Amino acid sequence: MFNRLERRVKVLHESSTSVSSFRIPQDLPIGVFDSGVGGLTVLKALQSHLPHESFTYFGDTAHVPYGNRSQAEIQALVRQILSWMAEQPIKMAIMACNTSSALALDTVRCEFSFPILGVILPGARAAVQSGRRIGVIATPATVASECYERAILEINPEVEVFQVACPEFVPLIEANQIFHPQTRQIVRHRLEPLVKAKVDTLIYGCTHYPHLAPVIQQILPSRITKVDPAIHMAIAAAQELDLLNLRSVQGSPRTQFFVSGQPAQFAKSARPCLGFTPQVEGVQLQGLAPLLRESDSVQTVLQR
Ligand code: DGL
Repeated sequence: MFNRLERRVKVLHESSTSVSSFRIPQDLPIGVFDSGVGGLTVLKALQSHLPHESFTYFGDTAHVPYGNRSQAEIQALVRQILSWMAEQPIKMAIMACNTSSALALDTVRCEFSFPILGVILPGARAAVQSGRRIGVIATPATVASECYERAILEINPEVEVFQVACPEFVPLIEANQIFHPQTRQIVRHRLEPLVKAKVDTLIYGCTHYPHLAPVIQQILPSRITKVDPAIHMAIAAAQELDLLNLRSVQGSPRTQFFVSGQPAQFAKSARPCLGFTPQVEGVQLQGLAPLLRESDSVQTVLQR
């Protein structure tokens, strides 16, 4: 894959006098992506922790939710997004999506010329610092991958991990139904096994779920520590940028928003999280047909 970043890097390389002066330009944006508005929770943490960085945000809203998809579908979608990002170009990609991090990161990481970071490890590390009975709420695909369980037990085999898949949460959040009375019932139902298991810590194992925090916090006992991997992801990204000498330390940062679905719908759903209505551009990714299933529509979720 010979993308614009590589071309730019190659030109720099060829025009420089020594090979050691070759590197990815620090002023390029960091690419951040998710299936929809979930990754905005990570974007906000990144923006506050890395105030001089520019970001290119991509929401794959034509294919949300990812959490009910097969690994092959998720990998195909992630490859398309990263190939598009490579063309922008970007200096680093952040999978602000647990489902992609769980099912695609290991496979696609070596296929691109920029570093690619996922959210699972920073979240698992933070949770192990806080508790011994750790609950994980995540998409069905993330839960089935058992990646949180593996990551946590690798750090501390003494810890107990309890996972719950919450297939309704993402469609409800994408449709702005956070304060719908039925959403509360659905959240209560999904969290019940974790309350019964007496967890002391809960990981938001899907970047969409912090949007539901006002509801979750009313339902879960306050003694349970909630871990949002977003800030831990931002700290890990800063360390990686420093390590690779890629951190931007000056200039006026900007963030651009792109989606594969309806820009106006995304702008509306993003507003409560961002505090403003973003300008959003639609992007057609090649070779992908929308795959939204009837069972994922918010009407179907609320009628269940
Ligand atoms: N926000 C993503 C995650 O962290 C994707 C959720 C989905 O599209 O199902 O898993």
